[in-house]
Amino acid sequence: MLNNRQLFLLHLGQTTSDPLMLEIEKAEGVYMYGPSGKKYLDLISGVSVSNTGHRHPKVVEAVKKQADSYLHLMVYGEMIQSPQVNYASRLASILPENLGNIYFVNSGSEAIEGALKLAKRYTGRSRIIYFRNAYHGSTHAAMSVQGSEIYRNAFRPLLPDTFQLDFNDFKSLDNIDDHTACVIVEPIQAEAGVILPEKGFLEMIREKCTNHKALLVFDEVQTGFGRTGTMFAIDRFGVVPDILVLAKALGGGMPLGAFISSGKIMSSLISNPQLGHITTFGGHPVCCAAGLASLEVIIEEKLAESCRSKSELFRKELNHPLIREIRGEGLLLAVQLSNPECVQYAITNAPGYGLVLDYFLFCSDAFRIAPPLTITTDEIKEACRQLLSLLDDAQKKCKI
Ligand SMILES: Cc1ncc(COP(=O)(O)O)c(C=O)c1O
Repeated sequence: MLNNRQLFLLHLGQTTSDPLMLEIEKAEGVYMYGPSGKKYLDLISGVSVSNTGHRHPKVVEAVKKQADSYLHLMVYGEMIQSPQVNYASRLASILPENLGNIYFVNSGSEAIEGALKLAKRYTGRSRIIYFRNAYHGSTHAAMSVQGSEIYRNAFRPLLPDTFQLDFNDFKSLDNIDDHTACVIVEPIQAEAGVILPEKGFLEMIREKCTNHKALLVFDEVQTGFGRTGTMFAIDRFGVVPDILVLAKALGGGMPLGAFISSGKIMSSLISNPQLGHITTFGGHPVCCAAGLASLEVIIEEKLAESCRSKSELFRKELNHPLIREIRGEGLLLAVQLSNPECVQYAITNAPGYGLVLDYFLFCSDAFRIAPPLTITTDEIKEACRQLLSLLDDAQKKCKI
């Protein structure tokens, strides 16, 4: 009889030739547990999903309570479902006034699709401006605004009339003009290896968009829900987009995405033709209940605020000759090593040190640290002790 590892390779569609292949039976807080009880400290949060940790009791309670009432009822947008209404109202209460209309979907990529369609529909224009090394998802439109030629080239033809600029290149923003439907940008570029905007860059994009009546779309799929030290990057930079895209931590561990705008802009999906964007499962009631519970935990436990001191602790503890730089904000950190080989070694061997680490898509010489925001001081110290031993090992084994 085949074991789970063999069945995994045989029957599940694979996306790399060397998947991490960790078998997990249970997860709680910042830890995941293998079948033999081996414990792994999660430094990734499923890529910025589990901001309130694995199976936060309040999230689990909300899931169970909603499952006892109803699961799916009807395609999105027809029936008044209180989990959607409650979550949308709560989100609107903490977002800027012009972001009070929430369209729930199932994932980040789907939310990006909705946002781009909305921008085209509202402006009547087709040009979409995006940035080098941006990652917005894996569906066709999301890929059309992905800032890597390697990926884009493999799937052409993609959406026409997309235009790539360099992140932090102020001069290139002159390309935003009266033909531009929208500019889509991650306020902090995540998969590029956590690249922060230079002072004034987001402000200038905002100004150009306003002047040319183009819409500004912020992709806060990774930066949202406290990860960078404020609830959203909007709060940190004081720049408000016309459309905000959320996913990952939005569902508190359940699949949920959203594109958010003003009622006026969103209403362009209502007519000529009606049903401008349709989803069967978007805003699933169990996912909305879980997401709202998780959001309340982030607020009550002041997780965004606590990110800053936790980030400092990682930076203080992680001193090693292999580390060139630790970049980032809050608990979205990139640890830059001397070369990609060391990164590869560290990530592959992390489970042996009781850690889960991960790559960035477009930055081969750094690994990611993005643990649940609930991580404690002791857990950070434990993680750093293990990381330093792992890096000692990497220093001996990989070519530098
Ligand atoms: C910034 C950003 N936008 C969009 C997405 C796409 O989200 P999903 O994988 O839920 O489709 C991701 C996924 O990693 C992301 O990091």
